[in-house]
Amino acid sequence: MGKNKLKRFAEMENFGNTFQFPEDMQGTWHKEVFKNQNPIILELACGRGEYSVNLAKFFPNANIIGVDIKGSRLWRGAKSAIEEELHNAAFLRTYIEQIGSYFNPGEVSEIWITFPDPHPPAGKAKKRLSSLRFLKEYTQIVKDGGIIHLKTDDQMLYHFTKAGAQALGMKILEDQTDVVNDCANDELLSIRTTYEVRWISEGKKITYLKMKLDHALFEKENFEKANATMQEWLRVHNAPKEP
Ligand SMILES: C[S@@+](CC[C@H](N)C(=O)[O-])C[C@H]1O[C@@H](n2cnc3c(N)ncnc32)[C@H](O)[C@@H]1O
Repeated sequence: MGKNKLKRFAEMENFGNTFQFPEDMQGTWHKEVFKNQNPIILELACGRGEYSVNLAKFFPNANIIGVDIKGSRLWRGAKSAIEEELHNAAFLRTYIEQIGSYFNPGEVSEIWITFPDPHPPAGKAKKRLSSLRFLKEYTQIVKDGGIIHLKTDDQMLYHFTKAGAQALGMKILEDQTDVVNDCANDELLSIRTTYEVRWISEGKKITYLKMKLDHALFEKENFEKANATMQEWLRVHNAPKEP
């Protein structure tokens, strides 16, 4: 590991706003970490935490937690939040697959997923952070009727996520297919992450979906039906490309 990375890791150990694979955190975020009852918003796959830091500024009456597995990236967001005295921002280093073990049911109000890895092969669809499997996982921690936001440059991931939401019957509250050109006056959607800046410079369209997470939609029968629909969707739209 490079010297710089080692220095960042050592520094992060002493950051009061960063939690690396913590234990027994469920139910403690409001009282112990933020010391208020404001809603908690997660940014999953936050990387350097640009959305987290800006969401904290944008929503001073909410608590923002950026989540990522890569410590050296999280360091950037955590350091900025400290420097800018954003007491409503925190960072959690862990695997998103384990997110359910860090929060109590209903402890989270909203989730932002920003430029996650699209995992293009159909066989890896379950790894996509906006797949039905992950959405179901989020119902364990997000309050009934909470909000899921997805921002991505990846057209397949956008259509896959939208198809999954529709198969379940989720309410799509906002659906943007060209954020840069159509939402220039929207301050929230104009926050740019490291990856987003790169994709825009390559001429890719940035998309955005805002969806409502009603828990009842995940009951066995409806969930299994939606899964079957998505298997067919993957077969038709996400088949392996001919060499
Ligand atoms: C393409 S980057 C996007 C980062 C940031 N949101 C941005 O737009 O600049 C994807 C991020 O997801 C994180 N990641 C991928 N899979 C993860 C997982 N299973 N658990 C936690 N973090 C994950 C990676 O470490 C990486 O920082």
